[in-house]
Amino acid sequence: MLYSVEYQIIQKNYKMKNIQKLIILVIVTFLGFAIISCQEKKEKKNNTEVNIDDLENDFSSGKLIYEQQCMVCHQKDGNGNVVFPSLLNAKLLKDKEATVKQIKFGFENMPPFPDLSNQQIADLINYISNSWGNSFGKISAKEVENALK
Ligand code: HEC
Repeated sequence: MLYSVEYQIIQKNYKMKNIQKLIILVIVTFLGFAIISCQEKKEKKNNTEVNIDDLENDFSSGKLIYEQQCMVCHQKDGNGNVVFPSLLNAKLLKDKEATVKQIKFGFENMPPFPDLSNQQIADLINYISNSWGNSFGKISAKEVENALK
């Protein structure tokens, strides 16, 4: 009888300890996940921040295309000459869709550039829209695609 009571107490203690262990394990696991997901979020945030910065300051791809395809007429500083119009504060640039179409299909004495990809056209427009004092905002490759539909 005495033995059985003792045994029960010991067993109860043992169970309690097990439950305590289990609770601690659950808490530790939960905290672990919480910390990991916090860090992932932080990393993600940092990544997007870096990407947006790159996008805002990097017009090098558009600049290169401009120098290869457009500079011969519109000149290095975008100022044009007696024959070809200046792109400084150019009216067309206010209308992104019309600009996309003019580059892709040409207009009057300006030749078409059918081989440029949507991304190249976007890069190009972003460069000329934000150079030489121009400030006409930006366009994405997806918006170029839509303009050409
Ligand atoms: C062979 C010469 C030539 C080349 C190369 C050329 N353009 Fe043009 N561009 C013109 C002429 C001419 C016009 C005026 C067209 C018109 O409205 O009659 C013009 C007009 C423009 C305008 C409108 C200017 C305004 O006053 O609103 C933009 C923007 C423009 N070009 C961008 C480009 C871009 C970007 C490229 C390179 C992909 C390019 N052009 C290549 C000759 C050229």
